[in-house]
Amino acid sequence: MKILVTGGLGFIGSHTVVELQNEGFEVVVIDNLSNSSEDVLKGIEAITGKKPLFEKLDLREKAAVQDFFKKHADVNGVIHFAASKAVGESVGNPLLYYENNINALVYILQELEKKENANFIFSSSCTVYGQAKTMPINEGSEVQPAMSPYGNTKQIGEEIITDVAKVSGINAILLRYFNPIGAHPSAEIGELPLGIPQNLVPFITQTGIGLRKELLVYGNDYPTPDGTCIRDYIHVVDLAKAHVVALQRLLNKKNQDKVETFNLGTGVGSSVLEVINAFEKVSGQKLAYRIVDRREGDVTLAYADTTKANDVLGWKTQSTLEQAMESAWKWEQKIRS
Ligand code: WQD
Repeated sequence: MKILVTGGLGFIGSHTVVELQNEGFEVVVIDNLSNSSEDVLKGIEAITGKKPLFEKLDLREKAAVQDFFKKHADVNGVIHFAASKAVGESVGNPLLYYENNINALVYILQELEKKENANFIFSSSCTVYGQAKTMPINEGSEVQPAMSPYGNTKQIGEEIITDVAKVSGINAILLRYFNPIGAHPSAEIGELPLGIPQNLVPFITQTGIGLRKELLVYGNDYPTPDGTCIRDYIHVVDLAKAHVVALQRLLNKKNQDKVETFNLGTGVGSSVLEVINAFEKVSGQKLAYRIVDRREGDVTLAYADTTKANDVLGWKTQSTLEQAMESAWKWEQKIRS
């Protein structure tokens, strides 16, 4: 069983390659290294004892995608992570996001639709829900107008996959992630810190290690118990394991529809201040932070209803917020040592 993982040297991709290899799958990775490094292959090998096949290519090059699928005609499944994912950047540079996140998806699907049967796992996001009206958020919650071009590419991607699956041998599972955090407990792989982190947890650990002066907390005047926003922070290893379970569901033809959707979260909401407290607890040090104005585009509340993932997919998270934070902190200390 050869599985293609696009973006397989990225944060969630690399952790998923580890779990696939742990399950005995043969993995081929495509990555254009725009937001990752080939060194990640060494980390994957250090954990699993096996280095995946690797092809450096840009999925925006249609001919390169066609050549890849000619060379690797035995690929049975694809887990598609490769995409640009910075919400703020997407507002200022929408065409980079539409070209990279949509064209690449179309070129891959064009190759898969030539096959009798193809299995496709799509990296989507809870961002498609915007500010959901009810909590916790289940898969039937209304998909709201996207608040950024990034979020729009995830919505459009889901729609493209749904349309293509209806008229091809493609079976797909859309995985809507909540907030992935942490790193592999071995600290051999983790979130590569390129530039100033947009996300909360890498900014916290970089502040803790002394790389950043202080964390700016974007608002404490939200209608929540402590005034800061609430999110569902999920350990990246738990998230990676969900991808293997979803792929096996398709490979074993257990799917009930051509396209299925699952929310992947812990089901527990944590506020920004609670995440800071988790860091202080696991690191034994105080974090320097300051409350500032709200960040444009932030929703107040987002945490998952995990019923469908638990009962239908047969997957649930194992790690707590503190365990995830501990792995993030261990990774930060490792890469700065
Ligand atoms: C979490 C909370 C911030 C940084 C984003 C994407 C989403 C998904 C996950 C890809 C918010 C607060 C943050 C900081 C802060 N990515 N914060 N100071 O925005 O929930 O989701 O990442 O799919 O699509 O939108 O995650 O980590 O940026 O923010 O106070 O320096 O932390 O206001 O309340 P977010 P985040």
